[in-house]
Amino acid sequence: MPLEGKNAVIYGGGGAIGGAVARHFARDGARVFLAGRTIATLDAVAAEITAHGGRAETARVDVFDSDAVEAHAEAVAATAGGIDIALNAVSVMHDQGTTLAGLSIAEFMRPVDGFLRSLFITSKAVARHMGGDRPGVILTLSEPGAKLAMPGLLGHAASAAAKEAFTRVLAAELAPAGVRVVGIRPHAVADAPAAGSYTGELFAPMAAASGLSVPEFLDGALAGGTMLKRLPELAEIAEMAAFLASGRARNVTGTIVNLSGGALVD
Ligand SMILES: NC(=O)c1ccc[n+]([C@@H]2O[C@H](COP(=O)([O-])OP(=O)(O)OC[C@H]3O[C@@H](n4cnc5c(N)ncnc54)[C@H](OP(=O)(O)O)[C@@H]3O)[C@@H](O)[C@H]2O)c1
Repeated sequence: MPLEGKNAVIYGGGGAIGGAVARHFARDGARVFLAGRTIATLDAVAAEITAHGGRAETARVDVFDSDAVEAHAEAVAATAGGIDIALNAVSVMHDQGTTLAGLSIAEFMRPVDGFLRSLFITSKAVARHMGGDRPGVILTLSEPGAKLAMPGLLGHAASAAAKEAFTRVLAAELAPAGVRVVGIRPHAVADAPAAGSYTGELFAPMAAASGLSVPEFLDGALAGGTMLKRLPELAEIAEMAAFLASGRARNVTGTIVNLSGGALVD
């Protein structure tokens, strides 16, 4: 059990990626604390975990409410004895496809502000409960947009690149305390829309513009643009997160793991 005795906080734990990672963390022995705005979806993931013998607790927390996030982290640390692992898997709906002339400043800033603000608030809340005599791990999620030069991705790409920069710099800051910070960059996740992800709605206009359903769009245009001609699946992201959170990855920090199937060359 590589995560035995570890306490993991997952923001967006009722979502497609957050839920999948929570199940894998619990499978590997972690006690998971799921945070999000909708208690029903969090409880559904927790019920599945406990039904399989795992330990999961849920809390209604809005990641943009820094006081609430701080109070939740404080409560988790007090109850469980510390925080060892944290993942921010919160989604921020945003535009993809609109170029500069048609893009408003508000729409451009929406993913930049939303993703960065939530990453800052959650990282700050957990970091002070990590490290010292027990090493900590903060995992982040980005997108291939961090590296893509394609029209219509100004806000998305800027936010993705900023999340990766945040990951690297925070890793340098927290390394002396024994905390690793590692990013995971999936491509569009093949089975996420079917699991209720916001990406179903995000990709719908682009799919419709090509006369395709969302699954056809993912299978065709997006998977076709990767070296392996396939997109990552939720279980593959969760396996990588569980590996990176474990001591088996104890020398890995300040980097981004590219799970895109080779959408880009680093
Ligand atoms: N899915 C993909 O294809 C993909 C690819 C690359 C990277 N990613 C990254 O992974 C993240 C998660 O993706 P996903 O597919 O798992 O999204 P998702 O299924 O839509 O899940 C996101 C979760 O975030 C929660 N959330 C949203 N706003 C929140 C807030 N203010 N406070 C607390 N929780 C909030 C949502 O629950 P409530 O609304 O109930 O709070 C939801 O459970 C994305 O945002 C992105 O950064 C995803």
